[in-house]
Amino acid sequence: MQFNHNLKISCYCLCTLIVISVIGFKDKYQQLCETCHGTKGYGDGPAANALANKPANIAQKLNKPFSTQDSLTEKVLVGKVNKGMPAWQGVISTADAADILAYIKSIQ
Ligand code: HEC
Repeated sequence: MQFNHNLKISCYCLCTLIVISVIGFKDKYQQLCETCHGTKGYGDGPAANALANKPANIAQKLNKPFSTQDSLTEKVLVGKVNKGMPAWQGVISTADAADILAYIKSIQ
């Protein structure tokens, strides 16, 4: 009985944590990236038309065989400032960038 009870509590905690972290990255994506990259990462956010350079279709990039999630994480941090993509280093961590990309992948 005691074992069952502990197991239930652990599952509950784990689930809560997972839900909180997924919601957290959804918020981050919406706050930091969505105006340019759009709700699903297609590069069609409300600010996209005002930019000289079209924001990347992140969903498509995540599907390319040679563009792994790790290399894209690096690109998010370094940015392409001269092309309109801000550098996020110092604003978000490497883990945050990877989680935001995982979030985008999860909503396709
Ligand atoms: C001000 C608009 C803007 C915001 C905000 C923005 N981006 Fe971008 N992003 C761009 C543009 C423009 C490009 C295309 C650059 C180019 O032409 O290569 C881009 C490119 C990218 C790429 C592709 C990089 C490559 O070299 O292949 C990724 C991945 C990306 N953005 C992720 C993000 C993430 C994650 C966020 C939020 C943390 C974000 N962007 C916020 C404008 C933006």
